[in-house]
Amino acid sequence: MSGTHSRVRERVDRDDTVVSPSRAKAAQKAIVAWFDRARRDLPWRRTKDPYAVWVSEIMLQQTRVETVIPYFERFMGRFPDVEELARADIADVLLAWSGLGYYRRARGLHAAAREVVSRYGAKFPRTTDELRTLPGVGEYTAGAVASIAFGERAPAIDGNVMRVVGRYIGLRADVGSTEAKRAVRAACEALVPPVRPGDFNEALMELGATVCSPTSPDCPSCPWRRSCRGVELGLDAVAGGPKKRAAVPRVKLIAAIVEREGAVLLARRPLDGLFGGLGEPPLAEGPLPRARTTFARAGIELHGKPGPRSVEHVLTHKVLEVKLATARADAPQSLAPYTDLAYVPRSQLQATPMSTLARRLVRVSFADA
Ligand code: ADE
Repeated sequence: MSGTHSRVRERVDRDDTVVSPSRAKAAQKAIVAWFDRARRDLPWRRTKDPYAVWVSEIMLQQTRVETVIPYFERFMGRFPDVEELARADIADVLLAWSGLGYYRRARGLHAAAREVVSRYGAKFPRTTDELRTLPGVGEYTAGAVASIAFGERAPAIDGNVMRVVGRYIGLRADVGSTEAKRAVRAACEALVPPVRPGDFNEALMELGATVCSPTSPDCPSCPWRRSCRGVELGLDAVAGGPKKRAAVPRVKLIAAIVEREGAVLLARRPLDGLFGGLGEPPLAEGPLPRARTTFARAGIELHGKPGPRSVEHVLTHKVLEVKLATARADAPQSLAPYTDLAYVPRSQLQATPMSTLARRLVRVSFADA
């Protein structure tokens, strides 16, 4: 008896997340009208050029709008179209990206530009299916570019859209679960309109960024307040709150600061992996005796102990705690995992592709000197 009851109940709960055509129509109208009033004037919104839309969407992955704006403007000035980007040296692309983080995105962008030129004669592919074959372009980016630049009726589901739509349909499943992804995708497929699909997708992103925030959504200002199941059920009861992050590991590193005749020794990171292809003062894992041995094998001799200053660099999955030690290296040799070591004159550091961490280390070492 109770078994029958709970089966019926479960079915009702699941069907709850389905968006009917009439509800979808009202929701589309309300959010697009809101977007027309509330949209922020962002540089990539002044164009439908697929190249510009694509560059902006790649930059906006895991990165805030305010951070992206100056990088986007500089990048478009430096590489104004896909051919210019395809022709560029990867070192120049990394330099333009330097400080944005997640450098794999820059390498994907460069590789994809070369494919657009070689496979499509520099004309951007127009469909999600074709876009998805480009390096670094996943389901989200393909949907965003196809809908914004080409008017394809395709969803673009990132973390913000998962939260906003998850709340709207009253999703109870954890947003990371397969069930949640399936429900939100189905809802988005019903919601994205045939007219102005790109504006609809950007409106959802805008709602997530400015109104439907993880911790303090401003429901009274929301165009969906009257039909939001999350409001009806209580937002605490549905998916989409902030994730509790597990404590991230701390990694202790020693940076060897080697200066010779106005030049600084930089090591280049392997192309794949964290800070791929960028230069930095050579780093070795601590504690000190272990780092000293690692450096000595590469012909880098640490002077005494690391100085009092250290740099803490917070990444998504770990915190790097880097102590700085001055050192000398008359004939530096290879040091794993770096691909090479070279002295770079101070005057050229600005023009050298380096991560934000590496720039901080160099800045601190100059201040110490
Ligand atoms: N986040 C991802 N894509 C975006 C866009 N086109 N505008 C604003 N924020 C975004």
